[in-house]
Amino acid sequence: MNIILLGPPGAGKGTQAALLERDRGMVQLSTGDMLRAAVKAETPVGLKAKAVMEAGELVSDQIVADIIAERLDADDARGGFILDGFPRTQRQAEMLEEMLADKRMQLDHVIELEIDVEALVDRVTGRFTCSNCGEGYHDRYKLPKVHGKCDVCGADAFKRRPDDNAETVRTRLDEYNQKTAPILPFYEARGMVSRVDGMAAMEDVHQAILLILDGAN
Ligand code: AP5
Ligand code: ZN
Repeated sequence: MNIILLGPPGAGKGTQAALLERDRGMVQLSTGDMLRAAVKAETPVGLKAKAVMEAGELVSDQIVADIIAERLDADDARGGFILDGFPRTQRQAEMLEEMLADKRMQLDHVIELEIDVEALVDRVTGRFTCSNCGEGYHDRYKLPKVHGKCDVCGADAFKRRPDDNAETVRTRLDEYNQKTAPILPFYEARGMVSRVDGMAAMEDVHQAILLILDGAN
């Protein structure tokens, strides 16, 4: 099963991708995570992407298409993948079509997480992750069970993304509305789009996605 998760910043794409990895053994392919790793490692791609990401704008179509193409070739993607944060423009959607055709892969579903604009800023500015294992948390919705210690690995250091401030979230939302939302009709025309209420509790959103994957919706 190969799917695209679409939705504005903070809609819960990363959260839902992690739950699908847990329950369905699919692999999450997040261009945001890949770009952040490149920034951290100061690779040529990372050096180009850093300032663009911190401003909340989109990096070039070719850069993200190249990193996704490489990951689609890895063995684990053959068992089913979740595209999280890609495609984000009409051109990226076209490039994805070409890549999938080349690799004889196909898409099964495009799932859009719908969320109120007011909730986005709150979700994104409250988000933090474990510096060691990357587990995601939120100041109000998901705190570590033991104060200051990661539930998964026990580490006591956490970090926040430089683009998770109220001003940059608004730029990211504008980019989504202007460049990403317009790709939905492309998939709608093929009957592939399902919408899920992203305002529901995390596990409820997950169950709604599983129903779609199982063909019950
Ligand atoms: P990217 O990393 O893709 O960021 P994004 O799309 O802005 O999405 P987020 O990661 O902010 O949100 P999410 O939907 O994953 O939400 P999450 O699950 O964490 O991209 C970052 C940047 O990289 C871009 O701005 C761009 O510069 C560049 N980039 C990446 N891909 C690109 C591409 N293809 N082309 C060009 N540039 C690209 O949830 C958010 C918070 O809410 C968490 O704290 C979570 O715990 C909480 N939460 C989640 N679900 C719920 C729920 N149901 N109830 C309550 N809280 C919830
Ligand atoms: Zn951890």
